[in-house]
This record gives sequence, C-alpha cells and structure tokens, in this order.
Amino acid sequence: MKTKLQTPVNIGPYQLPNRIVMAPLTRMRAPDNIPTELMASYYAQRASAGLIISEATPISPQGVGYPATPCIYNGLQVAGWKKITEAVHVRNGHIFLQLWHVGRISHPDFHGGQLPVAPSAITPKGDAVTPHGMKPFVTPRALETDEIPGIVEDYRQAAKNALDAGFDGVEIHSANGYLLDQFLRDGANKRTDSYGGTLENRARFLLEVTEAVVTVWGAERVGIRLSPSGTFNDMTDSAPELMFVYLLEELNRFGLAYLHIVDALEGDIRHGANAVNLDALRKAYNGTLIVCGGYDQARAEEVIAQGMADAVAFGQLYIANPDLVERFKLNAPLNDPDPATFYGGNEKGYTDYPMLA
Ligand SMILES: Cc1cc2nc3c(=O)[nH]c(=O)nc-3n(C[C@H](O)[C@H](O)[C@H](O)COP(=O)(O)O)c2cc1C
Repeated sequence: MKTKLQTPVNIGPYQLPNRIVMAPLTRMRAPDNIPTELMASYYAQRASAGLIISEATPISPQGVGYPATPCIYNGLQVAGWKKITEAVHVRNGHIFLQLWHVGRISHPDFHGGQLPVAPSAITPKGDAVTPHGMKPFVTPRALETDEIPGIVEDYRQAAKNALDAGFDGVEIHSANGYLLDQFLRDGANKRTDSYGGTLENRARFLLEVTEAVVTVWGAERVGIRLSPSGTFNDMTDSAPELMFVYLLEELNRFGLAYLHIVDALEGDIRHGANAVNLDALRKAYNGTLIVCGGYDQARAEEVIAQGMADAVAFGQLYIANPDLVERFKLNAPLNDPDPATFYGGNEKGYTDYPMLA
C-alpha cells in the first residue's frame, strides 16, 4: 500500500512525486560565499526528495552572519548555484532557494567593523559564529525607517538572481530569529514607526518583502518559512498566536506555493516557549502547508493523514540519509547524523553518508 508521504502533491505549478521535503540546512561549506561543486554533489544525492529547500542564503553582504555561507547577490554566486540547480534537475528533482537576512544574529567582523542591523537596538543573548571563533553578540543598530525599502529591494534582486540561477522557486526565511522574524516578535521589535507596535505594523516588513518577491516569481512559486513557537536566537513574544494568526490571514490573499511552519521543538518548550498550536495555524491558513521539526516517518504520516499538513520537511534525517525517500519506502534502517560535522569542513559528514545498496 502507498503511504500518504509517498503520494504526489501539487506545490504551485509543480507536481511533486512525494510529500517528503528536504528542510533548509546551513552547512557552511562555501568558502568566499560561493557555492561549490561539492555542494552540487550533496544536493544531487538528495534529489529524490519531493522538494529540496536550499540552505539559508544571504541576499546581501549586510544579511551575512555565519562564515562560509553561500550567498546570492553577485554573478559568481549565481554561477555557482546554477551548477547546483542543474545537478538537481538532471535527476528530476525540484529545488527552491531560501532567501536570508540574519539581522542582529551577526557580528561586526562580517561588516568591516560596522554594527549588524535589527528592528531595535536590543542585544540577543548568546554568541555569534565569526570567522575568528565564537564572540558575544553586540548591540545591533536599529534600522532607520527609510532604510527598509532598500532591504526590500535587496530581497527582490536576490529573488531575480535565484531565477537566473535556475531555481524552481524561492522560500522567504522569516523563521528562527533572523531579520524578518525579529520584526514580527514584540521581544525584539520595540519600534514606534509604521514597522513596530501593532500586529499590522510588525507584519508590514514581511508583507512588503513578499510582494516584492512575488513580482519576480509569481506567488505560486514563492513559499514562506515561519517559526511561531521558536525561541532560537533569543526570540520571545507576549502573544505569538495573535501575531501569527493575523499574519496567516494576511498571507491567504497571495496564493503562495506553500507556507512552511517549524513546529515547537523540544528546546523551545524547555525555553518556556509560548507554543502556538498547529491547529490554530491550519484553521487560519487556506493554502498548502509544510510542517517541520522533529518528525519521523510515523509522525509525518499521521500529520498528513489528519489533514494538518500537506507535506513534511526533514532536517537532521536528510543530513544523514541522502536516499531518505527510498529508505522510508522500504522501511529500511536510517543512518544517524553526526553533529560534529554539521557546520563547516569537507565531504566528511556531508557527501559520505552511505546510500542503500
Ligand atoms: C545543521 C542545521 C542547519 C540548519 N539550517 C537551517 C537553515 O539554513 N534555514 C532554516 O530555516 N532552518 C535551518 N535549520 C532548521 C531545520 O530546517 C529544521 O527546522 C530543524 O532541524 C528541525 O527539523 P528536524 O527535527 O527534522 O531536524 C537547520 C538545522 C540544522 C540541524
């Protein structure tokens, strides 16, 4: 019998052969921020996923906050990504690019000594991963109101570059405590202009970015990632359900390819997350929903069977199992991921996880 996960699903104009999505996974293996041949092998190995979402990809130099992350703001980077999209397409896969601006989750070491930017000048707890090791986060500079259209333009240009690089669509990264999430959450956004305060104002930046990206791609090839329950990168919100239900109701009008929700993770619960129920989000949103966060095959089947999601993204399982689709099909044992090789390095822990014979 065919399981739900192994049945086709339409996402925008694409009929995907299964509902198993490779989650976006930062691997920090792009020296000088340029995608490499090794990355092409890594993504090609995973092309049987219904959809691959690329690792988070900075849209501008200001959007960078980790070493060796591949970017999408210049021609060399576009040329590097082109080899990757070609390698995935040769194997009949589909790949979206995740558009990223880290905001305050950065360090002056990435910006010639200048401060990272944020909605408000609030220092996140924790350390930045710099090219010279871990360093405490600094107090970021609050963006001026008149700087925001320039960042929206950076998203539009990066989306255009992704089109030139041969992607099938883009995912706007508005999750996990990065710039767009920082604007959504009242713990990080204390602005008093039209981008802070009310739900409408805090959602404004993301909605403007969405409109800009949609002009390039058409809504049916644009997804958005949100983490309503996330505490990662020092995110807090006094009433996240109000914020995210409002946002989803606003996003309904676009007819997007999908919305991608990161569920409350164990760590979020431990950090006292004000967890938002998936049920409330499903009710608020009319379109295709991908969920992610600690799913195994059984839970993924269940969430689809219950009609709570249309597809499920897998993160750590995809790091360790390039042929995850085939393994699920056969109920084959899974390789264990090795956290020591998640970030940076070479093919070890990257392209050398064994496939089924
Ligand atoms: C090594 C690693 C890198 C990640 N990089 C990204 C990223 O670039 N963008 C993003 O939205 N989430 C990122 N995440 C979060 C995953 O996409 C996913 O939401 C998380 O791992 C939970 O799913 P899982 O339990 O299936 O691994 C990353 C997670 C890991 C473990």
